[in-house]
Amino acid sequence: MALLEFRNVSKRFGKLLAVDNVSFSVDSGEFFTFLGPSGCGKTTLLRMLAGFDAPDAGDILLDDRSLAGVPPEKRPLHTVFQNYALFPHLTVEGNISFPLEMAGRPKAEIRTRVAETLALVHLEEKGHAFPHELSGGQKQRVALARGLVNRPRLLLLDEPLGALDAKLREEMQIELIALQRNVGVTFIFVTHAQQEALALSHRIAVMNRGRIMQLDEPDKIYGFPLNRFVADFIGKINLLDVDVLAVDADVLTLSAQGLGTLTTPRVDGANVGDHGCLALRPEQLRLAADHEAGDLGIHFPGKVHDLLYEGDVTIYRVALENGATLEAMIANSAPGRPRFFEVGDSVVLGWRPDAGRYLHD
Ligand SMILES: Nc1ncnc2c1ncn2[C@@H]1O[C@H](COP(=O)(O)OP(=O)(O)OP(=O)(O)O)[C@@H](O)[C@H]1O
Ligand SMILES: [Mg+2]
Repeated sequence: MALLEFRNVSKRFGKLLAVDNVSFSVDSGEFFTFLGPSGCGKTTLLRMLAGFDAPDAGDILLDDRSLAGVPPEKRPLHTVFQNYALFPHLTVEGNISFPLEMAGRPKAEIRTRVAETLALVHLEEKGHAFPHELSGGQKQRVALARGLVNRPRLLLLDEPLGALDAKLREEMQIELIALQRNVGVTFIFVTHAQQEALALSHRIAVMNRGRIMQLDEPDKIYGFPLNRFVADFIGKINLLDVDVLAVDADVLTLSAQGLGTLTTPRVDGANVGDHGCLALRPEQLRLAADHEAGDLGIHFPGKVHDLLYEGDVTIYRVALENGATLEAMIANSAPGRPRFFEVGDSVVLGWRPDAGRYLHD
């Protein structure tokens, strides 16, 4: 039995359908993430789960029982927001013990649990500090500790790392993974950062305009996006408009704008005459000097139009003779050589026949 289930949940604000017939379930102990652009309905989903808003249609069930009519404070969950929402006049310990004091727990128990939770988030030294004496990452840890001290069934995290700089954010991501594993609390996490979703989650629901576009494990979302939106939203990708010319047992033959005819692995539901797109990740593309194209698989001649040196990798934009421009990401692993090609070089760009993916429109 799932811990949490949304059944055909919708929410309107005036004319806007902010959440549109959303269904999913979450298992106990999962790190489940909603990923999508600003305004797609992520916070609205969390607010309905937390009980701050009621759905206009559908039902939310916890342990198979409807939460309809259950007030926020009676729901066995806690929400951590982006802006921490710490009490400025209380110390770190005061902030963390607050939910336990509200619940009327005995003093001795509060003391033990606060100490344990402080250790969990590595803030043993800061128990007597006030929020204004803490860094952004430390405040975020206090907010997490306050959310976990009650051991809720569900911890809802709405862009909790959004206010942190890139390096701190990465550190906190690693800590969050460890924290979730150690405490075993089910996390419902919201972000619009795709890298963060991929790094943290057991499963990801990719949202757009109030709907779930794909719900899957991170490697499936990245490697096997179901549609153009998901492919485009998750990571860098080349998308080429194509028409399906032939469907065989294992391969599709496509006519690609700016490339010509090529083949790609067959996907279910593709029919001759369909219009769609071919998705190719930059790291799946290979480049060779124009006289070394031997083992490239499907390949096309072109010229390096421009490049972006990123240290470990270089992104080459290659203008192909047939008209398309594709981005290839190549690792800079050769010693003593900053990159393999220069702007204007004649090259051959190719990929393994099983690399591309046809997506329906
Ligand atoms: N109380 C409200 N009244 C009217 N419209 C609202 C209200 N709350 C949210 N909306 C609208 O509903 C849509 C979804 O909003 P929501 O806050 O859920 O988006 P989000 O995915 O959390 O975005 P972000 O990443 O920017 O936080 C938006 O178009 C928003 O303007
Ligand atoms: Mg939001």
